[in-house]
Amino acid sequence: MSAAETTVAFVDDDADLREAGAQALALAGWTPLPFADARAALAALSPEFPGILVTDIRMPGMDGLDLFRAVRRLDPDLPVILITGHGDIAMAVDALREGAYDFIAKPYATDRLMQSIGRAAEKRRLVMENRRLRALAETGGDDLPLIGESPAMERLRRTLRQIADADVDVLVEGETGSGKEVVASALHHWSRRAAKPFVALNCGALPETVIESELFGHEAGAFTGAAKRRVGRIEHSSGGTLFLDEIESMPAALQVKLLRVLETREVEPLGTNERRALDLRVVAAAKVDLGSAEARAYFREDLFYRLNVVTVRIPPLRERGSDIALLFSHFLRRAAERFRREPPSLSPALLQRLASHSWPGNVRELAHHAERVALGLDPDEGAASTPSPTPTLPERVDRFEAETIRQVLAENGGDVRRTVEALGIPRKTFYDKLQRHGISRRDFAEG
Ligand SMILES: Nc1ncnc2c1ncn2[C@@H]1O[C@H](COP(=O)(O)OP(=O)(O)OP(=O)(O)O)[C@@H](O)[C@H]1O
Ligand SMILES: [Mg+2]
Repeated sequence: MSAAETTVAFVDDDADLREAGAQALALAGWTPLPFADARAALAALSPEFPGILVTDIRMPGMDGLDLFRAVRRLDPDLPVILITGHGDIAMAVDALREGAYDFIAKPYATDRLMQSIGRAAEKRRLVMENRRLRALAETGGDDLPLIGESPAMERLRRTLRQIADADVDVLVEGETGSGKEVVASALHHWSRRAAKPFVALNCGALPETVIESELFGHEAGAFTGAAKRRVGRIEHSSGGTLFLDEIESMPAALQVKLLRVLETREVEPLGTNERRALDLRVVAAAKVDLGSAEARAYFREDLFYRLNVVTVRIPPLRERGSDIALLFSHFLRRAAERFRREPPSLSPALLQRLASHSWPGNVRELAHHAERVALGLDPDEGAASTPSPTPTLPERVDRFEAETIRQVLAENGGDVRRTVEALGIPRKTFYDKLQRHGISRRDFAEG
């Protein structure tokens, strides 16, 4: 929220004063938002409002004090500056006690008002910044995009926070499924570009015939079939983040053009000679080491160096073993919620198996595995005992039966009547089977 981004809502029923106020605000570098009455202003304000309110007190209908009180209820941290006519001073002082930021008596010197706005805006900026950080910390549970407490993950998160707001281009390297897109999106969301688009482009998936106009845009009539002008994806990302996924598969001809864009921070749409300046931030992702000798065969060295200003390497999952259980239980909980089941408990045997697997598909593979376990499709997982290597048919039938009973019990919250009905067996048989399989109905009871 810089000066230009700080909006000053300005309420005055007098058209001339409103006009003059808006002009003075704009001259001082603020974004004025004039209103002729309090209700309209109130409708435009919210706890997310990136600015402050300046309002006249005496107005027909809802007056400035009522507006101030309504805003206090809406967001007590939204600074309100009152403009008072003479005779209102006592009222204004009361308002200060109630939490108004300042009051200014008419006729006032513009400088005095602007100073007050400057301080109020700074206060608002700090409040908004604090809220943003708090919201980030609070999403630390389920929505935080990057789960993991291994030293490698902690390091990665620290790096990302450090560079998120710097306007450097970033190369993200990691094996398949290791979280490159998550990292790119975290870089975007933790930056001040977050409100602008995150434009993701898979460089390997676009056919070469469309990729150029897709990336750079074109004028109407630039080529056959180009009926309308089209803004390219690069330009569309201006102010936000351009995510170039699988950059290693970008065709050679395009690499040259991309390099030029990265160097000049401008695009030249097809069919024009016009260059458009961009506010560009590129995050590129690669599955391979683009600096390696093998990569030289297909990836331009100069482009590599241009992208390689900051490289973030995501270690494969097998190298951050301590994160596996954390990630798995997160995915298991999420899947269980989605499938409306109780999450199976994590037995030591299961954790042992998770830890010894090499996870070539990394976090994505782990997430898929958790879904299967949540669905009971890997019945071995979740069971505490180690099964015999090749179960006999009766053993399999037995296990299937026990699993089915558990599942139906769970679905019915341990209710015997409904479970028996759903299973289609007599009550007596049901109790016999519970005993034989060592299943306790109470484990499934709700409440
Ligand atoms: N640290 C993490 N915390 C939580 N979820 C993660 C983490 N890393 C990856 N994931 C999840 O794993 C899956 C794969 O991640 P992502 O798509 O970012 O990987 P990728 O490296 O881009 O894969 P690919 O190389 O196949 O494009 C996604 O569902 C993502 O949400
Ligand atoms: Mg990806």
